[in-house]
Amino acid sequence: MLDGENVYTLLKTAEELLKSKGLFNPKSDAEVLLSFVLQTKRSKLPLLRNQKPSNKQILQYEDYILKRSNREPAAYITGFAGFMGFEFKVDKNVLIPRPETELLVEVALKMAKEENKKSVLDLCTGSGCIAVSLAKLGVFEDIVASDISVNALAIAKENAQINNASNIKFIESDVFGKISDRKIDMIVSNPPYVAEPEYADLEIELKFEPKNALTAQDDGLFFYKEIAANASKYLNSGGYIFLELNSNKAEDIRQIFLDNKYADIEVINDYSGLPRILKAIKS
Ligand SMILES: C[S@@+](CC[C@H](N)C(=O)[O-])C[C@H]1O[C@@H](n2cnc3c(N)ncnc32)[C@H](O)[C@@H]1O
Repeated sequence: MLDGENVYTLLKTAEELLKSKGLFNPKSDAEVLLSFVLQTKRSKLPLLRNQKPSNKQILQYEDYILKRSNREPAAYITGFAGFMGFEFKVDKNVLIPRPETELLVEVALKMAKEENKKSVLDLCTGSGCIAVSLAKLGVFEDIVASDISVNALAIAKENAQINNASNIKFIESDVFGKISDRKIDMIVSNPPYVAEPEYADLEIELKFEPKNALTAQDDGLFFYKEIAANASKYLNSGGYIFLELNSNKAEDIRQIFLDNKYADIEVINDYSGLPRILKAIKS
């Protein structure tokens, strides 16, 4: 399928094929997948430009390029995604961690350090990327991560092991359903927030991800309303909520938290200037 025999020509032909299929970053995809096949760093590929991969490696690369040309996300093909400098195992049971979610972790970590917050609940943990990053980068004594999906929790537990984050307690729970009456200092969450009518228009890549990780009832606001209505029962006084926002609905979400009497509500923009994180305090 790919007309090339060394690293340079394989990359070029793969890039052209992916470009012809309308992919946005064909060069990056071609490089990420070849470096995975060759078990080398992407930055090392230029040094290997004249190397001839084995026939087995070429066949594997062709398979991956075919999958990517059918719009399967590269992270599902390789089985790994980077987040906050750590590696996370991913499969079709979990959302692929997104770069914009790193801001949620950064903001929560900064506040935890400044205010000496020691316990945190990561609702809707998925791959566990938020909880594991907080465990690795913070000084929390008590970390709980919950999700409704048993399959997602299995991946999250593996990710805690892969990254040596041993102090996380995982709970299968429908939102707050099985979270006991413990009091915590912080709740963080990147909940599903795509409204049903928006789902149809999402790019093809997102259709490979679990639908229940993306969509939420009530015009995408279900989880924000649940969290606003219930979080204060679980938070210590002065406890924080940090949520990733559907940037199209930031004002609606801010209003939900105002209506539920939270204090110091702040919306923080991401690096592309979109409203991305909501911070609120239990008053
Ligand atoms: C947007 S993903 C976030 C995953 C991960 N925290 C991240 O940022 O990459 C949302 C997660 O919510 C979970 N979820 C969906 N409905 C839920 C519910 N009713 N209660 C708890 N978790 C739920 C999904 O299984 C999915 O893992």
